[in-house]
Amino acid sequence: MRKRYALFGHPVAHSLSPWIHAAFARQTGIDADYVAIDAPDFAAALAAFDGDGANVTLPHKQRAVAACASLGERARRAGVVNTLSRRAGGWHGDNTDGVGLIRDLTGRLRLDLRKRRTLLLGAGGAARGVAPALLDAGIGDLFIVNRTPERADALADALGEPTRVRTRYFGDLATLGEFDLIVNATSATRGGALPELPMALVGPRTTAVDLNYGEAAVEFLAWARAAGGREAIDGLGTLVEQAAESFRLWHGVQPDTDPVYAELRARQASLVSAD
Ligand code: ATR
Repeated sequence: MRKRYALFGHPVAHSLSPWIHAAFARQTGIDADYVAIDAPDFAAALAAFDGDGANVTLPHKQRAVAACASLGERARRAGVVNTLSRRAGGWHGDNTDGVGLIRDLTGRLRLDLRKRRTLLLGAGGAARGVAPALLDAGIGDLFIVNRTPERADALADALGEPTRVRTRYFGDLATLGEFDLIVNATSATRGGALPELPMALVGPRTTAVDLNYGEAAVEFLAWARAAGGREAIDGLGTLVEQAAESFRLWHGVQPDTDPVYAELRARQASLVSAD
């Protein structure tokens, strides 16, 4: 029987994930369906779903932990789930955001992350997903800044590396000096605006990464370029890589991400130039 997968989020109408998973299925000859389900109430939507697996996105990644009968190591460490697989005992939760970001940065972009002084903006589901993977990739000090400081502190506590991980306030940013890597893991530009970021955070060696893509990535990446950073990268590559890892967990097959990424990038470029 055709296997069925879904993405739960709110909103999800503009998500590229159904297109990405359809492309992976075509490429690998796997018969699977993947639809986006707009879910204001995550628990109710998941309970009504009898498919084989699901992705979970904003704002439900932390909530999804409670729906799981078991958690993989990456989900347990992050405290957030973005991939659910149906098992005999119930949902098994994993997190593929971290591996997605690291594969994009070190694989596609050939960046060396070791010892990089890193600033993580945000402490929600996306930030929690990528923080453990950044530490595992060998970054140097990690500063976490979040609008709600308690969430930054909770993430730092969960990471359990007090010598490498510190929290700061947005108001402290001007005093922190330059970073090698700045990751925007907030959803601020999806409905409002980012808090003001001092240009002094960026130097000629700085790589800026926005986990958002499309319109939502424009403001942060424009700031990083204006501040003189070396690279400004949106979240499209991370999106494709995290999807590939979810696909591998569900189907046991690793799709080739390069053609899928290239097509999405070309489509996005044509959308931007058509504006
Ligand atoms: P996601 O899964 O995308 O991380 P989330 O768990 O809802 O979604 O987290 C959203 C993140 O963006 C949080 O870090 C949030 O800050 P708070 O913890 O203070 O809510 C951050 N964020 C959202 N809107 C913001 C804004 N206007 N300014 C600054 N940070 C914002």
